[in-house]
Amino acid sequence: MPPELPRREWLQALLLGTAAQPWRAWAQRSNPAGLAADPFGLGVASGSPSHNSVVLWTRLCTDGLGPANATVSWELAEDAQFARVLQRGQVTAQAELGHSVHVEVSGLQAERWVHYRFMVGDAVSPVGRTRTLPAPEALAPRLRLAFASCQRWEHGFYAAWRDVATRNPDLVLFLGDYIYEYASPPGGPTPQAKTPIHRVHTLRRAQTLADYRDRYALHKSDPALQAAHAACPWLLTWDDHEVENDYAGERGRESSGADFLRQRSAAYQAFYENQPLRASVLLHGLQGLARPDALRIYQRSDFGRLARFHLLDDRQYRAVQACREAGSSGAGTVRAGRCAELTDPARSLLGPAQEQWLAQGLAQDASPQGPRWSVIAQQTLFSPRHYGGASAAARADEPTPTDPWDGYPAARRRLLADLQATPPRNTVLIGGDVHQNYVCRVQADPDRPDSAVLASEFCGTSISSHSGATLERAAALQRDNPHILLARPDQRGYAWVELSPQRWQTTLMAVDDPGRADSPVRPLARFVVEDGRAGPQPDTV
Ligand SMILES: [Fe+2]
Repeated sequence: MPPELPRREWLQALLLGTAAQPWRAWAQRSNPAGLAADPFGLGVASGSPSHNSVVLWTRLCTDGLGPANATVSWELAEDAQFARVLQRGQVTAQAELGHSVHVEVSGLQAERWVHYRFMVGDAVSPVGRTRTLPAPEALAPRLRLAFASCQRWEHGFYAAWRDVATRNPDLVLFLGDYIYEYASPPGGPTPQAKTPIHRVHTLRRAQTLADYRDRYALHKSDPALQAAHAACPWLLTWDDHEVENDYAGERGRESSGADFLRQRSAAYQAFYENQPLRASVLLHGLQGLARPDALRIYQRSDFGRLARFHLLDDRQYRAVQACREAGSSGAGTVRAGRCAELTDPARSLLGPAQEQWLAQGLAQDASPQGPRWSVIAQQTLFSPRHYGGASAAARADEPTPTDPWDGYPAARRRLLADLQATPPRNTVLIGGDVHQNYVCRVQADPDRPDSAVLASEFCGTSISSHSGATLERAAALQRDNPHILLARPDQRGYAWVELSPQRWQTTLMAVDDPGRADSPVRPLARFVVEDGRAGPQPDTV
């Protein structure tokens, strides 16, 4: 942070400024139609950083614009007061892209913090902070990042994001389920219900482009989420709920093929419109959104030579979940002994092209010029969970969830084989999706406790989405699965990572009360990974 930036005052102004707008309190209770009062009511964001460029984002939410495009000015400055402007320009917020703005600023110095803002008419946006990454050859002494997932709006407030924003991270990695497509259960807040509802909207289940745009506006109306976006650049991927629950490639809940691709293309367009992504992710342009490979969001990102992030897409190219029945609303579980499809080696979670891309990237990481830490940033729990006994008969009869990696065991074995054949110096997998915290040793064969430890896994819990799992079940999992070092289903929060060339440290952060926007957030557990020694080790909080 530059010395002239009063970090704390800047952050307080951002939080107080957004909280002071009356529509915002209203928007937390109801639909986002009231956002019309402020063209920058959805906040600002930055993302997809490199060592010399970054994407600046906003989306105008003035209903009165109608079908007209709008001209938006932007500024990038060294200081928060914009006395030393580095670059400025104008860009068209196109109606056909939901009046979103994506400015790809280039020609920046490596490892620099900068500030940005947008102007339209007399309105000026909140100020965002962002940064470039270290130069490609630089071994940075440290990196501080948060990773998170699953922020179902009605399930809780975003105290976790407020906490992230106050920690001044270098980077946020969001690992999927940024929105949820469901219609809200009717009635008012019911914190005592089995699935607590802490705030209520009246949007229908999202299916059209207008539906998905409204759903992003609902989630982005939250001031704590806006503060986290304005605090640093984000790298993002998606999971299923950006489209609909448990979709797989071209197979949706009630339709597949061309019918489902129409819905999926609307959801994909809204994802692009609402995130700080480069235009190059639209592989075939706006006209090609209904193609099976519409958006290329899997990517690599280098934080100098300290860390390389392999950010994956586990939805667009996956094989349909094993033994899934037509018309089923979710993937569910199968008993392995009654579903031969489960172990079919042809089935892939990432699709053949992305699998090959990942294998090649990890092999490059294993070279002497590779990064100190190879991070596989993906959506869901990688390590297996066995719920029954260890005998073959018990394994064949146990219910196996078919949506995460447990449902794609051959694809998991291929990735493990790649890691064993050409091991990067240090490999860490991070994930989300399951709304629970897991810390695992990633072993060549998790059924053999003496097999080689290849990597470390940290699967973080949800920002707000509810988990139905019980503490008893988690305890049983830890007992029956020696590679699972921690399993906690009962917390909402995020994971905080402090990284140096010598050490990776993950602190699992837990929200005291998801029903309070101002809830305290506390460390739940801490693990470290030492350079050259695969596997997490417990550390004191
Ligand atoms: Fe989720």
